[in-house]
Amino acid sequence: MGYNVAIDGPAGAGKSTIAKLVAKEKGYIYVDTGAMYRAMAMHFLKKGIQPEETDKVAAACEDADVTISYEDGVQQVYLNGENVTAQLRTEEVGNMASKTSAIPKVREKLLELQRGLARNENVIMDGRDIGTNILPNADVKIYLTASVDTRAKRRYDELTEKGISCDYEEIKKDIRDRDERDMNRETAPLRQAEDAVLVDSSDMGIDEVVRTICSHINLL
Ligand code: DC
Repeated sequence: MGYNVAIDGPAGAGKSTIAKLVAKEKGYIYVDTGAMYRAMAMHFLKKGIQPEETDKVAAACEDADVTISYEDGVQQVYLNGENVTAQLRTEEVGNMASKTSAIPKVREKLLELQRGLARNENVIMDGRDIGTNILPNADVKIYLTASVDTRAKRRYDELTEKGISCDYEEIKKDIRDRDERDMNRETAPLRQAEDAVLVDSSDMGIDEVVRTICSHINLL
């Protein structure tokens, strides 16, 4: 069994930024499970399936093959043999992933892939149900969150910096909607595991969050 660190939390809390830095510091592999749900979402979008068509989504899981490899330490996601990594971070794919990840067949499909990676490697894995469901025996569990306003502001700044015009209130609404879906679905909803350390990054810089999380890892 590898050494396992689980980081869960809502959209925009900075999980991937932080997890990548902790992985570098500690020499672990960073596993982005959101990217796997996004790859599944891309598959459904390509087939023209609506997220409400749950039977069609479940049936389409049969011919979706999601695999992961690491190139220079960076996770690459393949959907039916095609490297789709660069296409996963759009709002369209993110929203579709937020909806279709509530469907049990979709979660079943990715469970073994995620557990298998953690079995063989030292990993820091981020997602929504890692500490509660995927790796209940993880060595360290972190629940990373921030206020809706902070998360919306970070997202707004990130998009503006990239020259993408956006509306702050719309971003905030999108984050609220995503929280609502991720936290209230029946299968593996987002919640803090009982033995997870709560880190609220609303008033913390990136370095401080990384140091806080590394201090919990170093305790062991
Ligand atoms: O972290 P992200 O924004 O890339 O994730 C996209 C969606 O996938 C998110 O809205 C919820 C879902 N997801 C999930 O249900 N379980 C995970 N372990 C990771 C992501």
